Amino acid sequence: MSKPAAQTVTITLDGTDRSATLPVIPGTLGPSVIDIRRLYQDLGMFTYDPGYGATAACESTITYIDGDQGILLHRGYPIEQLAEQCTFLEVAHLLLYGELPTKAQYEAFARTITRHTMIHEQLRRFFDGFRRDAHPMAVLTGVVGAMSAFYPDSSDVNDPHQREISAHRLIAKLPTIAAWAYKYSVGQPFMYPRNDLGYAENFLYMLNAVPTEPYVVNPVLARAMDRILILHADHEQNASTSTVRLAGSTGANPFACVAAGIATLWGPAHGGANEAVLKMLAEIGSVDRIPDFIAKVKDKNSNVRLMGFGHRVYKNYDPRAKIMARTCHEVLADLGIEHEPLLEIAMELERIALSDEYFISRKLYPNVDFYSGIILKAMGLPTSMFTALFAVARTVGWISQWKEMIEDPSQRIGRPRQVYTGAGQRDVVPLSERG
Ligand code: SDX
Repeated sequence: MSKPAAQTVTITLDGTDRSATLPVIPGTLGPSVIDIRRLYQDLGMFTYDPGYGATAACESTITYIDGDQGILLHRGYPIEQLAEQCTFLEVAHLLLYGELPTKAQYEAFARTITRHTMIHEQLRRFFDGFRRDAHPMAVLTGVVGAMSAFYPDSSDVNDPHQREISAHRLIAKLPTIAAWAYKYSVGQPFMYPRNDLGYAENFLYMLNAVPTEPYVVNPVLARAMDRILILHADHEQNASTSTVRLAGSTGANPFACVAAGIATLWGPAHGGANEAVLKMLAEIGSVDRIPDFIAKVKDKNSNVRLMGFGHRVYKNYDPRAKIMARTCHEVLADLGIEHEPLLEIAMELERIALSDEYFISRKLYPNVDFYSGIILKAMGLPTSMFTALFAVARTVGWISQWKEMIEDPSQRIGRPRQVYTGAGQRDVVPLSERG
């Protein structure tokens, strides 16, 4: 830990003389933590926190979230300033190395990433193994996991050079793999990345171009895509990042760890929510059907949730959602889409929800996924690609958190415990005597 314990907490077991005095360790920002590593030794007990909602699994200097205030900082910089003033690769450099790059550092980093955007020609064959209607996240999970077979040196996670080159390869190649997953699904030829295009521009080029004619990326869409990638880059110890850290704690190679993160992100409660929001808005169909939908959401037996709303940490407006909403209006206006029914439904749904006691009392606000799908749909991305885009962006966060974990001297293999409530010890009765 970077800061020594200033205070302690003592836990005493009622009716006994047993107690544990545990160090309290303050962070730079946000809640302090109680270091419970001695708890079992001193009190013979574990803590219980299903879903780890109150548990700090690591020390990190990368991202800070204040869920009550709706604050998101990357290495101390507010997301609003990064989204407004930086490119995705500047933010990638910040997350990976801890500082925004100088001009020279940025040019060197961008050149390195650009020159790693092609994937091994043998990896192309992995796509052919999938059905054309395979979900892009299934393709990403498979192809990224397979990358470890192409870079055997990457298994030496204790070699700083191997860690850095693996990070560069993952950041550079995810857009190519994601774009090719889309092209494969529509039966179009793969478009190779171009070294004369920027990161977001290249991604849009590979998604939309065809070999039969030139394709020029709309600069407005390139800037919007770059900003969307920034908003999805990292988010503290969310489910998929925690998966990457846990996988990495065993010494698994970074490609396998990121593949595990992709699989985790796919879930509709996590990164799959942007796709689920679009389906929800389409299912609602019109503004006048919103009250019926809201009634269904409030009915516990319906199992219907307002997708794109709520968050494990944010109990205020997700700052990324505000930027996303603004970008949504900008992109639709630039595209000349004055009347987007899904946006009208989304805005009315948000207005109603934010004035409804059910949502207010549960502190449910729009999260990053609520508006992103509308922009991506307007940009021509198919719904099935929304979570793949999230994975492209979050790869930077995953690999930065993985690198930090590997380089943390206090890190050990992750191994949560449990409270056992099953059968007490008993003897096996032979099958012949079991009736
Ligand atoms: C992401 O962790 C991260 O940082 C994730 C992420 C990132 O960048 O990595 O921010 C990305 O995953 C954003 C979240 C995307 N998911 C969704 O939009 C799916 C819809 N949201 C929910 O399923 C839910 O809000 C979660 C999963 C996001 C959070 O769940 P929690 O913290 O476990 O909330 P909860 O289930 O404890 O909810 C508390 C109450 C419950 O009602 P009661 O039992 O108290 O009566 O709020 C209700 C829930 O039923 N509730 C919702 C709701 N979310 C919670 N009710 C209706 N609609 C919702 N969306």
